[in-house]
Amino acid sequence: MVTKVTNESGATVSTIEVGRGLVADFVLPGNPRRTKVAVLTQPGAQQVALAYVDRLQELGLETHSMVLPDREEAKTWEVVAKAHGWLAEIRLTRSDTVLGVGGGSLTDVAGFVAATWLRGVEVAHIPTTLLGAVDAAVGGKTGINLAGKNLVGAFCHPTSVTIDLDVLDAVPLNIQREGWAEVYKTALIADPDLLELLHDSGPLTPLDDVVERVVRFKAEVVSEDFREFGRRAVLNFGHTIGHAVEFASGCSHGEAVAVGIVAAVAISRDRYGFDTNVREGLAVFALPTTTNADAARVSELLLLDKKNDADGVRMVLLQGVGDPIVDHVTDDEIELALRSVGL
Ligand SMILES: NC(=O)c1ccc[n+]([C@@H]2O[C@H](COP(=O)([O-])OP(=O)(O)OC[C@H]3O[C@@H](n4cnc5c(N)ncnc54)[C@H](O)[C@@H]3O)[C@@H](O)[C@H]2O)c1
Ligand SMILES: [Zn+2]
Repeated sequence: MVTKVTNESGATVSTIEVGRGLVADFVLPGNPRRTKVAVLTQPGAQQVALAYVDRLQELGLETHSMVLPDREEAKTWEVVAKAHGWLAEIRLTRSDTVLGVGGGSLTDVAGFVAATWLRGVEVAHIPTTLLGAVDAAVGGKTGINLAGKNLVGAFCHPTSVTIDLDVLDAVPLNIQREGWAEVYKTALIADPDLLELLHDSGPLTPLDDVVERVVRFKAEVVSEDFREFGRRAVLNFGHTIGHAVEFASGCSHGEAVAVGIVAAVAISRDRYGFDTNVREGLAVFALPTTTNADAARVSELLLLDKKNDADGVRMVLLQGVGDPIVDHVTDDEIELALRSVGL
């Protein structure tokens, strides 16, 4: 399956392919001036990256690779500066391409490195985690962390995203479950049938039934609201409190999103009577529904959240499955939400 992300003028900015055994026929989008590819990868994705390096060399491209630190350790200024220094050494020009091969933290930083090198060069992504495939690699948000998650970044759409289900099937369960949190998020905000499927089959749900529909939904929402002035914000469901918990506790992004979903559902239940047993649903994927993060630190980070505006904290809430609404929440509601996840 091939799907596209289009910009405000309807032009295609990203082509996303989902399939199996994709490395054998992998090509980058046509660009007769490209001679080099800089592959950025991370420890867990090195085998996959090697296969793509072989393929690029087969295509006659000069290929260089760099392994960045793992997980959030990669999303720092120091790593960006190191990658820029390396691009200077290998003399990556404006006609060349950065290829990000890895999970969401790798594609977030690879995209940011590409966006800022020579004022922007082409980036393409090979997501190697479920989370990266269904969410991070699609949509053009790139960034690094400062005093909060993703505070510095740029929009930079990958010209191509290649999602190989064979690669994702081989990911260990403890990493796979982090991706299920984002799949579960999408089911809650957009897809009652998918939610039913997840509740029935849990982590045994075949990726063939999941990845394509989640990616198609994200591509559609991003195409409609390229720079998040409106509808795109619904994709942040579970992320307001989730990001604060992630930063305060050092847990993984997927685990934090699971906790954030429980918190957002607590407010949704109180306000709109929304009632779905998300705790049970998430527990089937071995995802946490409470946190032992420092409560004061979480509250402090919520204030910092970049999505806050003059009127306070805005959150995505659910009036029903597939019926999200973005609204300001009161301090009392935040307290209720934090209490619901053990804070
Ligand atoms: N840009 C966006 O729109 C967006 C959306 C969602 C999440 N994100 C970001 O994505 C990040 C989380 O992504 P993630 O969960 O993929 O994390 P990650 O990139 O840190 O990867 C998780 C772990 O999986 C390992 N790994 C990667 N591929 C593997 C493979 N094929 N087999 C075995 N291990 C493998 C990595 O080495 C790492 O240890 C967060 O930083 C989050 O902020 C961004
Ligand atoms: Zn996320």
